Amino acid sequence: MLSNIHDSVKDNLESFGHKHTHIMAAFCLYGAYTVGSTALSWSWRLFKTFLRPGRNLFKRYQGGYVLVTGATFGLGLEYARQFAAKGFNLVLVARNQEKLDAVKRKFKEEFGDIDIKLIVFDFDKPYTAEGYQPLKDALDQIEDISVLINNVGALKADYFNDLDIDMINTMMQVNLVPQTVMTKFMLPKLLERSKNQGKRTAIISLSSVAHYTRMRRSTIYSATKSFNKTLSDVLRKEYGEYIDIMAVLPGVTKSQMITFDAPFVLQPEQHVRWTLSDLGYNSQTFGHYKHWIYGNAYRLPGFEAFYTRLRLRLLAQKKKEQDK
Ligand SMILES: NC(=O)c1ccc[n+]([C@@H]2O[C@H](COP(=O)([O-])OP(=O)(O)OC[C@H]3O[C@@H](n4cnc5c(N)ncnc54)[C@H](OP(=O)(O)O)[C@@H]3O)[C@@H](O)[C@H]2O)c1
Repeated sequence: MLSNIHDSVKDNLESFGHKHTHIMAAFCLYGAYTVGSTALSWSWRLFKTFLRPGRNLFKRYQGGYVLVTGATFGLGLEYARQFAAKGFNLVLVARNQEKLDAVKRKFKEEFGDIDIKLIVFDFDKPYTAEGYQPLKDALDQIEDISVLINNVGALKADYFNDLDIDMINTMMQVNLVPQTVMTKFMLPKLLERSKNQGKRTAIISLSSVAHYTRMRRSTIYSATKSFNKTLSDVLRKEYGEYIDIMAVLPGVTKSQMITFDAPFVLQPEQHVRWTLSDLGYNSQTFGHYKHWIYGNAYRLPGFEAFYTRLRLRLLAQKKKEQDK
């Protein structure tokens, strides 16, 4: 029975092929094009991810100051460390003077004679010209800014209905306002350096893989991280000719926000090292290849449902253990 069906399908295809050779040729060409372009695109992605050497960033940006928001812990601290190790001067912004002083002392011991400026500012408040004036005054003092790293962020994972309204407000303020306002304050200086002094500049903005994953228990966080990604994408269209503008979409990385261990949880050092090797080339990066795999896998059909079930099961298990 099956072999009869098989023979009849084969005969029909053969006779169709004989009668409509031009249609068959078009199908073959389209197939070859699809396979060829997919193979090329994946080869290019693999090359970019694993083989392409990073740029010499000190040479590309000709030194200058790297400004990092949220620089006392996690990814921000590590961005500051890796730029300091390359010889850049630093401007570190965070809300706690003691922590900033401790970072400065440590970096001075590690990296010697680089200049480090500190700005104490709490971003957990709405924008008002008056409230942001002290920050603006401090930023106005900085000459020769070469890289702005919009890093500061806040996360609280829970179902929307269980999120405290004050925490929702904090996430909106800390994830949206500083990236917008810092860029607004620093853009004229970055453009002046690039256009008039002929020295290239960069803006690195921390979004998150949550921009793609949009998982349950991350409504506000995912929404704010999509804002970060969109802001960066459109700024790049407007100013990418002069400034390297890159959105960063890390997966889970050890920090104050993320305190658990798992095979896909990276150390900030790994994330930042891989991310900086994409600076000056990419408009966006997941950073490390593990997060690149995770970010791309998430977009495959069925992956999200599978991963969400797994995650919710693990969370339920953890809650059961805590309740015991
Ligand atoms: N870690 C991850 O898995 C992950 C994944 C994707 C994206 N990201 C993004 O990466 C960025 C950094 O995340 P992280 O995990 O490194 O964060 P983190 O460990 O919580 O560190 C945040 C830094 O920002 C400072 N900060 C927090 N709130 C502040 C405020 N209101 N005003 C001024 N400074 C403040 C903190 O200072 P204090 O020490 O005083 O709190 C700390 O220096 C965020 O934009 C986040 O969304 C992180």
